[in-house]
Amino acid sequence: MNWNLLSISDLSREEIDSILVTARKDFLELSRRDIKKVPTLRGRTIIDLFFEKSTRTSTSFELAGKRLSADVINVKADSSAVGKGESLKDTVLTLNAYRPDILVVRHPHVGAPAFMARYTQAHVVNAGDGKGEHPTQCLLDIFSLKQTYGELDGLKVAIVGDILHSRVARSNIAGFRKMGMQVRLIAPPALLPRGVESLGAEVSHTLDDLKKVDVIYLLRMQKERHEGANYLPSLREYISHYCVGRRHVRPDQRVLHPGPINRGVEIESELADADGNMILQQVEAGLAVRMAVLYRIIIDNAATAGSEVRNIQAVG
Ligand code: NCD
Repeated sequence: MNWNLLSISDLSREEIDSILVTARKDFLELSRRDIKKVPTLRGRTIIDLFFEKSTRTSTSFELAGKRLSADVINVKADSSAVGKGESLKDTVLTLNAYRPDILVVRHPHVGAPAFMARYTQAHVVNAGDGKGEHPTQCLLDIFSLKQTYGELDGLKVAIVGDILHSRVARSNIAGFRKMGMQVRLIAPPALLPRGVESLGAEVSHTLDDLKKVDVIYLLRMQKERHEGANYLPSLREYISHYCVGRRHVRPDQRVLHPGPINRGVEIESELADADGNMILQQVEAGLAVRMAVLYRIIIDNAATAGSEVRNIQAVG
């Protein structure tokens, strides 16, 4: 299988399951050991190219590559020649001359990773493209839910907040449905995309409907993508209707959030610190899942090309 990971729809349910088994069996436990490094991708080159701010995604991709012993180069747009006016095409042609195996890309424009994939032999992983997609976030969320619930068929999830501007929502609606989950979207009408009915999710506008689901998935208000438009009468009004607190959540319900959280906007501080939420479990899962994605891209392609890849075994 020769693959880029640009959209969650690039993967079948079986492929998702198989990547997540690799993450669980080979990499989750490894991250809890004293020695966290394996020689698996020694000699391979991974370039992480971030044109947008990131804490979790950039840290976990960097750590993932390093723990697999690849050579990892991190390029941030603000310190690269992009700031000197270099085009996206010239940037990717330049980096491709170093013959990287994988290019991990985060970019503010939808489709930028797919565009770059046309100009490099490297496998491209979309680490978030504008309000397009964020497939590795979706994989780590499915992983976290599987860790907690086992089988996901029939599990009901509500995704709450700024659905319109969220790449996480786009990937997760598709990914959760692919895993057999029932998806409900809760947001003010102005923060839902046009044609939302076609996404295969129930839609409502009130937190009262949280009682109908097993899992609550909260989203940050993506202000950086509102571009001066007023999607809401006021933030205070949004908070009074859509900020989720402990009183909205039953003890048997679990709360997820991709981070960064904005306390007091989409999530009350007390809920952010409560036991019932899975936010830090998601962060930990992100590392194991991104190790699995990098590893599988290389070994699946090496198998096709007939070249040798070392087995997973701890260094030292
Ligand atoms: C998300 C993103 O960048 O799309 N964050 C992340 O990757 N953990 C969500 C967000 O920024 O709100």
